[in-house]
Amino acid sequence: LDRLLASCALISRTEAQSALRAGRVTVDGSVCRDGAGKYDTEKNVILLNGQRVEGDGFVYLMLNKPVGVLSATEDKKGETTALDLLPEPYQKAGPGVVGRLDKDAHGLLFLTSNGQLNHRLTSPRRHADKVYRVALDAPAGAEDEEAFARGMDLGDFTTLPAGLERLEDGRICLVTLREGKFHQIKRMFAHRGKTVVDLQRLSIGPLTLDPALAPGDFRPLTGEEIRALLTAADMM
Ligand code: URA
Repeated sequence: LDRLLASCALISRTEAQSALRAGRVTVDGSVCRDGAGKYDTEKNVILLNGQRVEGDGFVYLMLNKPVGVLSATEDKKGETTALDLLPEPYQKAGPGVVGRLDKDAHGLLFLTSNGQLNHRLTSPRRHADKVYRVALDAPAGAEDEEAFARGMDLGDFTTLPAGLERLEDGRICLVTLREGKFHQIKRMFAHRGKTVVDLQRLSIGPLTLDPALAPGDFRPLTGEEIRALLTAADMM
């Protein structure tokens, strides 16, 4: 219980133990002072200071990554990373980034300390679809759509079939990728003689960027969003 409290309420183990000793924790309606019991936040109603404790002990966050921030969790050269944008308790929970996004790209970044989920969403075998909004220097045409759908030989690898949906006059497109190789979308358009001028990730599997998040803002995922991701990864 003390470990569950610490990870779900983002407090230290010591703080969790002192809350227990002080009688500030109840489980299913009774005060619980023993940190050793095994409980579940869905099956048991656990209250800390009268507030329901939720979650499975992992952190699940979405960040609207701004342009100029690295999608890594640490950088040796001291550049700003996604982790730097989170408050300390979230940093301490040690979330990893699920699927890199270029420094000059922006939009949905999903961070979680659930390593198994991270691995499953990014493993080549069961890659989740990712959708990007792309702005181009020249309109994409039907031939580009076909080339994306066929898959293209980029020299070091051949892309899997990808979705290309043209919006407006073709300078704005929605691209759906099943994989996520380095600079993949930029390289695919360069192969077609076009330059990507703006790249925004909108979704990863069932998880969609919350339009209420301004660039640089983050929020924890809802229970529904977490369940959808765990289901997509065959973990529920
Ligand atoms: N494709 C790119 O070129 N860059 C990204 O960050 C993601 C997909």
